[in-house]
Amino acid sequence: MKVAVVGLGYAGLCTAACLGKKFEVVGVEVDGERVSKLNRGQAPIHEKGLPGLLKSGVARRVLSFTEDFGSVRGADFVFIAVGTPSKPDGSIDLSQVTSASAAIGRQLAKTKKRPVVVVKSTVTPGTATSVVKPSLEKESGKSCGEGFGLCSNPEFLREGAAIEDTLRPDRVILGPLDERSGRAMKSLYLRFYGRRSPPMVVTTPENAELIKYASNTFLATKISFINFIARICETLPGADVQEIAFGMGLDPRIGERFLQAGPGFGGACFPKDSRALSAFVWQRGIDNTLLRAVLEINDTQPDWIVSAVERALGRIEEKNIAILGVAFKEESDDVRESRAIVLARKLLNKRAILRITDPQALEGARKELGGDAKYFATAKDCIEGADAAIVMTAWKDFGILKARDFVALMRTPFVIDARRIYPVEEFRLGGVNLRAIGLGEA
Ligand code: UGA
Repeated sequence: MKVAVVGLGYAGLCTAACLGKKFEVVGVEVDGERVSKLNRGQAPIHEKGLPGLLKSGVARRVLSFTEDFGSVRGADFVFIAVGTPSKPDGSIDLSQVTSASAAIGRQLAKTKKRPVVVVKSTVTPGTATSVVKPSLEKESGKSCGEGFGLCSNPEFLREGAAIEDTLRPDRVILGPLDERSGRAMKSLYLRFYGRRSPPMVVTTPENAELIKYASNTFLATKISFINFIARICETLPGADVQEIAFGMGLDPRIGERFLQAGPGFGGACFPKDSRALSAFVWQRGIDNTLLRAVLEINDTQPDWIVSAVERALGRIEEKNIAILGVAFKEESDDVRESRAIVLARKLLNKRAILRITDPQALEGARKELGGDAKYFATAKDCIEGADAAIVMTAWKDFGILKARDFVALMRTPFVIDARRIYPVEEFRLGGVNLRAIGLGEA
């Protein structure tokens, strides 16, 4: 069984590396530097388990990478996993999907194989049917269901847990456009997962596409909701959002996960997908107030931190402010739409002297913020002489710091814990002026 994966971003690369455990996989990518790195078995992103899979797949010669689209011709399954970024108005930019579909179509014209083309990229409902299919048909001169198959198969992996999520997903969603593709995809996954196969839902392509958006925007809504509750807590002495999330989460209808208040959601998916669905429903004449509110809470969440700093320090200008963590979440080197970058820009606008640390994401931060900030390899170096320290990412490296470290190293031990990684009582007794997100103050 041969599989081609077009687009080696997070989802494409992790899918390719995992499928390489059982099948022969070729990854196709336009970025030549990435391709060479991958062919040497090196991971271009920080993702647990990925380096091992790449090394072993490349060494066993079952996993290879190329810039040449021609290599999709030998494949039984061709996964489209290219990016679907936001346009300036927030709506989805399908240009990479369109060009990948056309390029695959041109190769289909040159082969007798009848592969199943699989849409893994997150695309708005109707895209497989009205964008991918016509493009494949036009360029290949073949029709869907005869010359090739087509199936929507959205991805649910999380960065930082991408390999685990791919090897042990909660569910597989399949939206075939033709009967053979549904059967072929099911048997591909049965072979891949064996006896530990996850539940497979076979539905229409439109449902499959919308399941992805509904899932991501529901989780984003949960986060904005708990951040809204956190704001209420902050005005109520005696209130604590963590206790509230715990109490709510015991109700199985609500569930405890994704109720962690924080600086807001970032990353390549939740902000972009919430904007895309919001624009999509608006274009269809459906009110998008709900999604706009989710985004509005998220966009203004870093402002809480700025005001807390202002309340504690008076003016921000010329103050040394340490940001602990710029990755959009722990175990990741990704700073895309990270709230820490948003916060950093806000603080820089107020002329703060920024000191930044992150175990994995300093390179990304440098690309975003350049020479406007100072960068430090360790948290201890970063907080030295600082007037305020703000925890933006829940890295274990930061969790091991003690109250005495902040007291000894900072000019004034004022700490904002936007991820709730520090024990409040212990830190306060230890002399730290600690503000924790979602914790009411007298
Ligand atoms: C998300 C989804 O969780 C995946 O299922 C989906 O496949 C992926 O998007 C995608 O569409 O590709 P990801 O963005 O990697 O995955 O990361 P999450 O773990 O979902 O976290 C997103 C953001 O929400 C992070 O900034 C995180 O810190 C924040 N978050 C998460 C909270 O603030 N509170 C929580 O309780 C959970």
